[in-house]
Amino acid sequence: MEQVLTGTKQGSIKQLLASTEYDREVTVRGWVRHRRGSKGVFFIHLNDGSTIQNIQVVVNEENTNENVLNQISVGACLQVNGNLVASQGAGQSSEVQATEVTILGPADSEKYPIQPKKHSMEFLRERAHLRMRTNTFSAIFRIRHAAAYAIHKYYNDRGFYYLHTPIITGSDAEGAGEMFQVTTLPIGNPPLDNQGEIDFKQDFFGQATNLSVSGQLQGELGAMGLGLIYTFGPTFRAENSNTTRHLAEFWMVEPEMAFYEQEDNHNLAEDFLKYLIRYVLEHCKDDLKFLDERFTKENNGKPANERSDMGLIEKLEFVVANDFARISYTEAINILLNSKPHKKKKFKFPVEWGIDMQSEHERYLVEKHFKKPVIVYDYPREIKAFYMKQNEGEEEGRETVRAMDILVPGIGEIIGGSQREDNLDRLMQRMTEVGIPHNELDWYLDIRRFGSAPHSGFGLGFERFILFVTGMANIRDVIPFPRTPGNAKF
Ligand code: 4AD
Ligand code: MG
Repeated sequence: MEQVLTGTKQGSIKQLLASTEYDREVTVRGWVRHRRGSKGVFFIHLNDGSTIQNIQVVVNEENTNENVLNQISVGACLQVNGNLVASQGAGQSSEVQATEVTILGPADSEKYPIQPKKHSMEFLRERAHLRMRTNTFSAIFRIRHAAAYAIHKYYNDRGFYYLHTPIITGSDAEGAGEMFQVTTLPIGNPPLDNQGEIDFKQDFFGQATNLSVSGQLQGELGAMGLGLIYTFGPTFRAENSNTTRHLAEFWMVEPEMAFYEQEDNHNLAEDFLKYLIRYVLEHCKDDLKFLDERFTKENNGKPANERSDMGLIEKLEFVVANDFARISYTEAINILLNSKPHKKKKFKFPVEWGIDMQSEHERYLVEKHFKKPVIVYDYPREIKAFYMKQNEGEEEGRETVRAMDILVPGIGEIIGGSQREDNLDRLMQRMTEVGIPHNELDWYLDIRRFGSAPHSGFGLGFERFILFVTGMANIRDVIPFPRTPGNAKF
């Protein structure tokens, strides 16, 4: 690792803990996680975010004045000069014998909320500005960083270009109408046109605009010139879903590939997911080990029917080592129709060909039936977006499109994608059927008018992926500052 100027001359706490160059002067800076003391000797655990491990600092009362000693409390930020020595304590490699302690920032211990004890996730969510100082959240955000880096590495190494698609757009890629409007018009008194409707011609962009729900449509334009592209950016959905799987602002990775057909798309998605998991397994060992222990504790407290029969790391290794199941939507519905919960009327929602599968159905398929990730493809046309490639020669009323969803244990849908309709006439006809005016997406139609080619892509919900690898239960706990209905604090 390169030396950096922040932190200390000798490097981060992570580097010092790994060092065996003892009996040298070092400086460490960090936040106090824990302190205890007796007989004039104090043991302080300092953490600077570089690793889940704390470094132990030993402070002798005689080297320090009383005022400084009183301010060494949990949450305070310290600079310690001292001697790096091999640690006597079990489970620690090196520690610092302090010669000088400076309080960079005291923390009133009566008021500092993050104490070294178990706090509930709800409690910490309300204090998201301080939760990065806990083991759990620092582990999650280090893993989040590693996964983001691995995404760029994966695509870069395979010849994909990172394309920046717009965040403000006039189109609704998914056609679900769940968009946040972007406007500079005065909301109390907007200008009206002759029909008495809001006159968006007078708005900032001269048209109605919204925050993007997906970079896909512009990504397709990129793929039709650059061949292989991916986007990785924030996306916004104003769906009023107060669940543990939905955010109003989330990050999505969307590769789009010229000349890929349906099965190529499935192969890439499976390989990509496995690569990301492998990367985290290899590069985030300490953090994963901590989260694995946390997962096991939480899991043991659950009712038997909700308990996972694998540990977190065990589950990740299992996913990497085994092929995903691949079934058509029709096969999935047949499995559900023959399932115990369906026969015993245990599903809340009905099962029949044509339904948009609910999470109880998806979770039955992955957690009970296949017990591993499942790629479901060829969904009914009526429940999927207008841009998906239509399958030919199908029984009337049972038309399907080349959609695919990847479902994983504990989460449900983690990836959604499809081969795209590359036939101009069929695409225009579908747009007419679902009520999208052709002139609104003239540019999108142009890539079918000029040099159309088969192409495919998918979107991975980045936070759903982080949920999966960290074993956390709520999506609000894997993004630093979650945006959900009724909440945009920080
Ligand atoms: O299935 P979705 O809606 O697909 C698309 O947006 C396509 N345009 C992708 C493409 O083909 N390029 O969303 C993709 C993924 C979902 O599988 C899910 O993991 C995640 O994005 N996702 C959400 N994650 C958090 N909160 C939400 N509200 C989400 N909605 C979708
Ligand atoms: Mg989807």
